[in-house]
Amino acid sequence: MEDIAKIKQAFLKGLGGAKDRAALEALRVEYLGRKGKLTLILRSLGGMVLEEKKKIGPAAQALRKEFEELLSNHEAVAKEGASAPHAAIDLTAPGRRFSRGHLHPLTQVEDEIRRIFASMNFSVVEGPEVESEYYNFDALNIPAGHPARDMWDTFWISRGAKKSTENLLLRTHTSPVQIRYMEAHEPPFQIIVPGRTFRYEATDASHEINFDQLEGLVVGKSITLANFKFVVEAFFEKFFKGRKIEFRYRPSYFPFVEPGIEVDIKIAGGKWLEIMGAGMVHPRVFEYAHYNPHEWQGFAFGIGIDRLAMIKYRVPDIRLFYSGDLRFINQF
Ligand code: DAH
Repeated sequence: MEDIAKIKQAFLKGLGGAKDRAALEALRVEYLGRKGKLTLILRSLGGMVLEEKKKIGPAAQALRKEFEELLSNHEAVAKEGASAPHAAIDLTAPGRRFSRGHLHPLTQVEDEIRRIFASMNFSVVEGPEVESEYYNFDALNIPAGHPARDMWDTFWISRGAKKSTENLLLRTHTSPVQIRYMEAHEPPFQIIVPGRTFRYEATDASHEINFDQLEGLVVGKSITLANFKFVVEAFFEKFFKGRKIEFRYRPSYFPFVEPGIEVDIKIAGGKWLEIMGAGMVHPRVFEYAHYNPHEWQGFAFGIGIDRLAMIKYRVPDIRLFYSGDLRFINQF
């Protein structure tokens, strides 16, 4: 019985000093292993006289149980301790920076354009990207077989399950929204139409199969090209804040305007840049929209938003806008 008391004392002392699982395991072997101190006593029970056996037996069994419980409790604690450093907050670690996204440069430019035109009392209108042949061409005075159709290479859409009777395409410009808006509204009005457009073209530094345009349309009883000139010059002066801009107006041809013109700008004495098409709305376009061309007149224009962004930020290649390359995007 004395031995048992000593074993218990020694074990408890060892347990107090066991700092990790390896030390606990060593303790288990030392006392409960095949040649462990307590095991040897249990084994020796068979050679004892009955009296001794009766006393020592239950005491040794109880001690084994106690040791096992103590060991398994301590092991559980040691296990938690081992994983604790991972879960703990390391107050000395440097802070993690949150990265915040921002609007794409083309969206920023489009927003700015909307703001400037809104300040001149224009409304913003949108139209569908999948358009019918009628709105994209016919109603804009570009009938089938007209050579002007060659100016707009197109992605045609298969009619699919809808079995539409109309030919559908990805719109080649935002001009069809002129017709859609006039069909649903009475003049006078002034609108801009920003939106995505498509051309079936080989891409290069200044051409993409997908780009953004801004259409403008102003209709009233006495709208003239002088009004157009004022609006366009006011717009560019605001858009290129403070940079000195010269304007040049050249005759041009677009089937939906008469006369048609093209506007060039020269910024701070640089090169002349073709910037937009425009003109007085063709009487036949008014007829398609069910307006009386003797009663109403107006101007229309179309600008490439990508082109404006390229000029404003001196971007040499339109394809960068659609590349998804963060080294480019993060510069804005
Ligand atoms: N829709 C023409 C294009 O994509 C641009 C354009 C020219 C629009 C003259 C107009 C306009 O409204 O009057 O090439």
